[in-house]
Amino acid sequence: MLDAAGPGLGHFIREAGRGGAQPGGSIAEGQSEPPSGGAMRGKNVYVETYGCQMNVNDTEVVLSLLGDKGYSPIQDPTIADVILLNTCAIREKPENKIWSRLGEFKKLKAVAKKNKRRGPIVGVLGCMAERLKHKLLDADRLADIVVGPDAYRDMPRLLKIVEGEADGGAVGALNTQLSLDETYADVVPLRPAGAVTAFISIMRGCNNMCSFCIVPFTRGRERSRPTTSILDEIRLLSDTGVKEVTLLGQNVNSYADFATESQRGAPGTTVGDPFSTYAAGFRSVYKPKREGAVQFAELLQRAAEIDPEMRIRFTSPHPKDFSDDVLQVVQQYPNVCKQLHLPAQSGSSDVLDRMKRGYTREAFDALVDKARRLIPGLALSTDIITGFCGESEDEHAATLDLMSRVGFEQAFMFAYSQRDKTHAARHLEDDVPQPVKARRLAEVIQVFRETMFGKNEKEVGRTHLVLVEGEAKKSEEMLTGRTCTMKRVIFPKISVPASQHGCGGEAVPQPGDYVSVDVVSAQSSTLTARPLARTTLREFHSLHGSTVPRRS
Ligand code: 5AD
Ligand code: SF4
Repeated sequence: MLDAAGPGLGHFIREAGRGGAQPGGSIAEGQSEPPSGGAMRGKNVYVETYGCQMNVNDTEVVLSLLGDKGYSPIQDPTIADVILLNTCAIREKPENKIWSRLGEFKKLKAVAKKNKRRGPIVGVLGCMAERLKHKLLDADRLADIVVGPDAYRDMPRLLKIVEGEADGGAVGALNTQLSLDETYADVVPLRPAGAVTAFISIMRGCNNMCSFCIVPFTRGRERSRPTTSILDEIRLLSDTGVKEVTLLGQNVNSYADFATESQRGAPGTTVGDPFSTYAAGFRSVYKPKREGAVQFAELLQRAAEIDPEMRIRFTSPHPKDFSDDVLQVVQQYPNVCKQLHLPAQSGSSDVLDRMKRGYTREAFDALVDKARRLIPGLALSTDIITGFCGESEDEHAATLDLMSRVGFEQAFMFAYSQRDKTHAARHLEDDVPQPVKARRLAEVIQVFRETMFGKNEKEVGRTHLVLVEGEAKKSEEMLTGRTCTMKRVIFPKISVPASQHGCGGEAVPQPGDYVSVDVVSAQSSTLTARPLARTTLREFHSLHGSTVPRRS
């Protein structure tokens, strides 16, 4: 999750067009005519992105759609024609931050008015737009346009409506229509130029209805992007030098594309057991229908086969969809990162039942054991909620036990925040007092830190493969990148042999290079290393037998 990601705009590139499916249309509320399509030239747009990686990629989609209408991204809100906040509604805290930013932008408008200039058009996009709809327009007109996650194609028209309004007049413009089929498959995201990593959305929405979660209400039903358009985009990214792609979805491993013929025959559903495509012991509130579809394991395999030098990651998965065939693809392909996100939410079966997660603690433990058995060196991350409705001290202790037993490498931990519309808000009592939630959260964080630091210390002396991303934030003398297990590594920016065999002279590693490094010390969240040589993913794998070696 991003805390409050700045736009990170810099210079953007656009790859050549993607193939792919026709988009599903979204119908504007209260509007019947489509936009005239006239280009608006020479305008600029400033965007702030909050929430998950999906929002980061959605921002790139929005910038692409607006780019087609002549808007260029800028990094300074004070000179922007349009200011957009791409928002998250998952908890109250990030929403409060958005309200305060809207207040600040209102001041920019007031200054412009005083100087007899037209102020910026302010838009709220994403989950908070979907959740609050008209309330954002009504609230002292803090927002001029409100656009839900499936309505981004409509933005040029919505902007035009507001531009046509007399200053401060009318009612703003809104489209929060959710779609059953919009995947933006044909939109080429406007990505930062020169980036060595990229996000690719492969599905949108969530059908799971976990009792605490607003996502199914703000992001709508699950729908998957056509396999061919995803694979085409990966090929294009590989051609432009991108070395790592992260496949994205609210429920990424429940991917199911019925429009493309599966090359695996008709995997999946065994007659009589609708949950046979799930990990053992997992269920959902709905019956998955995936027969004949290209499912996640197949997509992952086909993605991994495009470029053996390109790493593949994916997030955010649901544990239920880690069927054996998904784990096998992770194990078999050296370029599929040996790191899985397994959002546990709680270590207590009773809490998991109230959360409607569809599994018990035992089923979760069994999945962890199986994944670790099958994939040596596997790193695991998780999401945890503390203080969910009715959580007792014993139930909380079960979560602490889970954290210390599993020993996650990364964890995103939150105090429960009640969200309107959810099952929990309607049927359960938010009865754990705030200080208790906070204390339990601190305890979970403490156990996580201890186990994580212990694991990091064990990395000292190991040889890792690092994909160089660029200079370290703290020092121009250092480079930074990640291991395939997602650990951040920093190491001195010095010349190293250009290959592991010592041929080809010496070179200073550049962003996009793979470098083998020896870990020399461990800090709480980073490893410091000594660079050994530039290498390739295949060379490293053939020398070490894995991209996650044990002892050096
Ligand atoms: N309160 C606290 N945390 C939540 N999450 C989702 N909904 C809530 C909520 N109402 C957390 C879950 C999820 C992550 C993305 O956010 O842990 O996996
Ligand atoms: Fe929310 Fe559950 Fe869907 Fe994740 S799987 S987005 S927690 S409803």
